[in-house]
Amino acid sequence: MGERGLILGIESSCDETAAAVVERGARTLSSVVASQIAMHARYGGVVPELASREHLRAIVPVVRAALAEAGVGFGDLDAIAVTSGPGLAGALLVGITYAKALAFARGLPVIAVNHLEGHIHAVLLEERQTMRPGLEGTGQSPVDSLDAQSLALVVSGGHTHLYLAQPLQGTWRYKLIGRTLDDAAGEAYDKVAKLLGLGYPGGPWIDALARFGDPKAVPFAFSQIKTKLHLAGKAPRTKAAKTAPIADLDPHFLFSFSGIKTAVLRYIELHGLRDGVGERIAKMLAGARPPKTKEEALALCPQVVLDLISSFQHAVIGDLMKKTFAAAEALGVKRILVTGGVAANSELRERFSAEATRRRVRVAYPTLALSTDNAAMIAAAAWPRFVAGEFADSGLSADPSLALGR
Ligand code: KG4
Ligand code: ZN
Repeated sequence: MGERGLILGIESSCDETAAAVVERGARTLSSVVASQIAMHARYGGVVPELASREHLRAIVPVVRAALAEAGVGFGDLDAIAVTSGPGLAGALLVGITYAKALAFARGLPVIAVNHLEGHIHAVLLEERQTMRPGLEGTGQSPVDSLDAQSLALVVSGGHTHLYLAQPLQGTWRYKLIGRTLDDAAGEAYDKVAKLLGLGYPGGPWIDALARFGDPKAVPFAFSQIKTKLHLAGKAPRTKAAKTAPIADLDPHFLFSFSGIKTAVLRYIELHGLRDGVGERIAKMLAGARPPKTKEEALALCPQVVLDLISSFQHAVIGDLMKKTFAAAEALGVKRILVTGGVAANSELRERFSAEATRRRVRVAYPTLALSTDNAAMIAAAAWPRFVAGEFADSGLSADPSLALGR
């Protein structure tokens, strides 16, 4: 066994097969991601059976590539970290089974990592790597801040969760503060994109097109979510992490994105945008790259669609921002971590950063590559567990609705 603190991370919870080698949770030696997006795009979303089959095909070459890129062999590794949930059962099982077999053959411990904790560590890993201070006005030193109590917004295709992340004797503890009651924000992006004939995943396209529209053209509203008695103690209707109850959560920090998707559909129908636009865009987008100029954007969509896209994004990000900053203020937290696929969004980064400066709090994001699913974040999240000796036993299996924190 090596002594460098090298952890091989493996991630296969959804539509990306990923492997990475990270040193002491702080230095990425390699991060390889094999995306299945092109295959699922044909169906407009992830097809679980196809995902499992592709993970099986990709796992061995992806792990080999991660080791080769890091310039290490199996003998140099100290542990194997693998995502155990939440995610698609069959997809998770491919990574877990491979990790267990490899660990058994090499006499290495396995560390089970929650995918959501992984996303949070994508930001912490990035901060450790760059030691970016950016702490003006917060009264914290750079080193203090790396392990400071933080509010984490995990916002992706499967999740929209707010956690209070607290360092505790070298490891991290998480408390659920808020979450979506129905669709995740990324899911709303993908569904709206599908309605308009944009490709899957829709986030990057909406991101690119939104800047050419008027964000105030369509006044989408998010009504305040009231505590619903019939929901008390029940799990929300989301695909992932079903076990987290919402009974004790402050309704001000609950999200709901299914309504805006319906409002967009109604707008499309009312303005006769349904016929032709989707097909036309889909045809033009085949092999196209996101537009860089207004002319390029207009060649893809009429102005009315650009305005709709821009207004949708403006409303979603406004809602994410309002509730996240309100929660940070209520908890007295001075650092916000925004992570997950939607954290790659350019308007989100601009607006969160501006608001953070205004409120004299700090906001941090992962690099764009670490915003979406990857294995470096899994290896990084495993490091404190490795140090604490928290290893999985041989019975480790997939937990599709694994919750993080309480
Ligand atoms: O974290 P991720 O790769 O997978 C999950 O754990 O879900 O997130 C994928 C999600 C998709 O819904 C995708 O549309 C969204 O992240 N996404 C974006 C952007 N890039 C990816 N949403 C908005 N703007 C983006 N630039
Ligand atoms: Zn994810």
